[in-house]
Amino acid sequence: MRRAIYPGSFDPVTNGHLDIIERGCKLFDEIIIAILVNPEKRPLFTIKERREILSEALKGINSGSCRLLVEDFQGLLVQYAVEREADAIVRGIRAFSDYEYELQMALMNRRLEPRIETVFMMPAEAYSYVSSRLVKEVYQLGATIKGLVPSLVEDRMREKFNKAGATQPKTETRA
Ligand code: PNS
Repeated sequence: MRRAIYPGSFDPVTNGHLDIIERGCKLFDEIIIAILVNPEKRPLFTIKERREILSEALKGINSGSCRLLVEDFQGLLVQYAVEREADAIVRGIRAFSDYEYELQMALMNRRLEPRIETVFMMPAEAYSYVSSRLVKEVYQLGATIKGLVPSLVEDRMREKFNKAGATQPKTETRA
């Protein structure tokens, strides 16, 4: 049984993330999509919302016999990975510019926990420029994000920005 952790902020999940998960399903029997609870950040969606969105979005992908779980974690990723008895950490690399930061993290994680391998995966070229940050930015400036995120993310973004004050989310908590 090969278990991987796919960690990230997922604020919000994009079609690029889903593409990586679908590809990861060809390599692993189980993938835990693990959302980082980061009190330093001011996310658009709460952890609870991101868990809901991810769980819903995962219904739309072809996971074959791979089991997909959505969780959240705090603290060191490798510590969480050991607790969850994972074999690997999956990270998507879109462009060369991602590589330096990802390599640093992978090597630090290996130093901290040599038993856990990091596996870099490439999303489809169509998603090579898609990031949660840019999706939020262009949406807020009035552009369409159709095709870049699952349609339920578009709906949740619309709801979020229609609510007064939602453009300034509060400091993150688990709630
Ligand atoms: O989607 P992101 O924001 O690029 O994901 C970054 C993430 C969650 C993978 C990274 O920030 C992380 O692993 N944070 C947990 C804290 C930790 O273990 N830090 C040391 C990394 S070498």
